[in-house]
Amino acid sequence: NDRTVRTPSTDNSPLQIFVKAKKKINDIFLEIEDYVNDTVIYMKKIEEDQHIIDKEQVKQIDTFKAKVLGIKDVLARDHMKVAFFGRTSNGKSSVINAMLRDKILPSGIGHTTNCFLQVEGSPTDEPYLVLEGSTDHCAVESVGQLAHALCKEKLNESQLVKVYWPRNRCVLLRDDVVFVDSPGVDVSPNLDEWIDKHCLDADVFVLVANAESTLMVTEKNFFHKVSTRLSKPNIFILNNRWDASANEPEFLDQVRRQHQERAIDFLVKELKVCTAKEAEERIFFISAKEALLARLSERGHTSPTPLADGFQTRYFEFQDFERKFEECISKSAVKTKFEQHTQRGRFIATELKESLDKIYTDAQKIKDEKIEKRKDLHDKMNYTEQQLMLITHEMKQKIHHMVEDVEQRVSKALNE
Ligand code: GTP
Ligand code: MG
Repeated sequence: NDRTVRTPSTDNSPLQIFVKAKKKINDIFLEIEDYVNDTVIYMKKIEEDQHIIDKEQVKQIDTFKAKVLGIKDVLARDHMKVAFFGRTSNGKSSVINAMLRDKILPSGIGHTTNCFLQVEGSPTDEPYLVLEGSTDHCAVESVGQLAHALCKEKLNESQLVKVYWPRNRCVLLRDDVVFVDSPGVDVSPNLDEWIDKHCLDADVFVLVANAESTLMVTEKNFFHKVSTRLSKPNIFILNNRWDASANEPEFLDQVRRQHQERAIDFLVKELKVCTAKEAEERIFFISAKEALLARLSERGHTSPTPLADGFQTRYFEFQDFERKFEECISKSAVKTKFEQHTQRGRFIATELKESLDKIYTDAQKIKDEKIEKRKDLHDKMNYTEQQLMLITHEMKQKIHHMVEDVEQRVSKALNE
């Protein structure tokens, strides 16, 4: 689509691993669907004409039709899900906006996000939102409207509001990435419900930490809970607000090292979700606010603002994070989403093959039996023929003897 916001790396983006795998597995299921349909038609035909298969067999294969449709349906909805957590005001909504290259989610000082917000691609050109438990589309065009719409509703913080944003406005949405923004982990005591409702199907978690302070116990506890429910969740740690370091350049390296060590310890020693080497690729020092401003001005939406020292380095690091994130999420989603489909597809294909094999061997058996019967008949005829011949031969001889006997007797009688 012409209006899709493109970056030079769009088509070799790691997200393509998922996009291509999804297309491929979808094509395979189209083929499986054809095979199932053809097999059912074929089985019904031979079921009528001859009596090789019974109705139960046809019924069993017929159930695969609905199964394949079900899988295709789930497949069409399969996406890559990333969930953002962290303390209030650390910049979760700002990070998402920077990744989406637009001010989509409300952000601001104080406690802003008061429920779960899921942003996903909409097939239409108009953005809209859908509240939990409803199917109504509420039109929204701007962040202001979105914030207003969310304030108007009395929302509970575990509730989910889905924001559908036009796919052609962002490549991440076009490629089926779904973002979940959350209220601060320090706000809600109901973390278990959050995990049950919003985290179990997430492919990647992003912990948005505040580089001006340090990782907090509430943030750590939340991820301890997550990792007891999910085996080795993929967690990225963003030390956001790193632009603050520009004010204290003399401490920059020291502070960075301190954050880095603590974050590595947390992932490797506490959560035990990855190795130290892997953890290095999961921890970034960024400024979401700057990244979003840079992107908005790249697109001419705002005039360039004077940026703090070290902006370029932070912006590169933000882009580096995006690349590593894309690689991680697409690989993880292919595995978690498609492994099951592959197994089911393989099961259906094997069942089809076994059914057709059975029909073939049964038909072969019937054919062999017929040949056997014919041979049997043939043998029997031969035997009767032989018997007949034997009998005729015997009869001939008997008659011959009788005639001879009669002749002898007659001539003897004549002589006498
Ligand atoms: P809640 O929704 O309230 O939990 O907050 P949040 O984590 O979503 O934070 P949000 O994105 O709303 O950001 C809070 C405030 O911090 C906003 O005013 C942002 O503009 C600002 N902010 C976000 N990221 C940065 C950053 O990297 N640097 C600076 N200086 N400010 C930032
Ligand atoms: Mg927020």
